[in-house]
Amino acid sequence: MALKVVVLGGTKGIGRALARRLAARGDRLHLLGRDLAELATCAADLQARMPSGGQVTWSACDLEQPQAFGAAVAEADGALAGFDTVIITAGLFATQPKLEADLAFTQRLLTVNFANTVLFCEHLRGYLLARGGGTLCVFSSVAGDRGRKPVVLYGASKAGLSAYLEGLDHKFRASGLKTICVKPGFVRTGMTEGLPEPPFAADPDQVAAAVVGAIDKGTPVIYAPPIWALVMIVIRNLPRFVMRKIGF
Ligand SMILES: NC(=O)c1ccc[n+]([C@@H]2O[C@H](COP(=O)([O-])OP(=O)(O)OC[C@H]3O[C@@H](n4cnc5c(N)ncnc54)[C@H](OP(=O)(O)O)[C@@H]3O)[C@@H](O)[C@H]2O)c1
Repeated sequence: MALKVVVLGGTKGIGRALARRLAARGDRLHLLGRDLAELATCAADLQARMPSGGQVTWSACDLEQPQAFGAAVAEADGALAGFDTVIITAGLFATQPKLEADLAFTQRLLTVNFANTVLFCEHLRGYLLARGGGTLCVFSSVAGDRGRKPVVLYGASKAGLSAYLEGLDHKFRASGLKTICVKPGFVRTGMTEGLPEPPFAADPDQVAAAVVGAIDKGTPVIYAPPIWALVMIVIRNLPRFVMRKIGF
């Protein structure tokens, strides 16, 4: 049966690749984002990819405006006549040197990636649990798995988010709420443009394919590409004296 999916972050990068895959297989979509003109363009692109005259709707939601979350979720729910799946890829990134030098942007990043994403999920959780469950798929990062020199601040925002998503899954899985925490490694999108590519760099569609599989199976944690699960086992187990020495 076709899913009824709300996507926050579908205008760019991995979110757009994911929305395209879901549209192509006939899932219904409602896009949320902060730029209405961009949302309209994306909705038209997605509609053209749908099998048979499907409709993609959209409305405004800015992760920096938490007071409007309730109305945004209600509008998305109305447009889909009750969503059963939510995907949140929206988030901010900057390099560690830029964040250390710009505490105003650091505050925005910490707020968007952690506090406001959690608050947004809390709004969604109520809707999904009231109808017996559904899927909440949220993008964290491998950067949240261990405190590391190049991602001290960004990684902290994602570590908090990963911990929240794990707790949510433990508490509500039995009530039907499937929480999926996605942990990508380096993916070639606007977010990483101009950065040196580490090993195992991936394209957005590779990650999107893996995430669609995780949504269908209800996998609670997914590393994408999967090699990052092994890399992070090693990184998580390195002793502190090694972590202080290396630059990774
Ligand atoms: N790329 C990577 O290497 C990588 C690695 C690990 C984890 N991740 C995580 O994966 C997710 C997707 O990354 P990506 O590379 O696809 O990023 P991206 O290409 O930069 O796209 C980010 C998306 O977030 C939206 N967004 C940003 N701030 C927002 C706000 N205040 N309100 C609403 N929407 C907002 C953007 O919307 P606009 O169109 O309005 O800008 C855009 O659709 C992020 O959570 C990121 O942290 C990425």
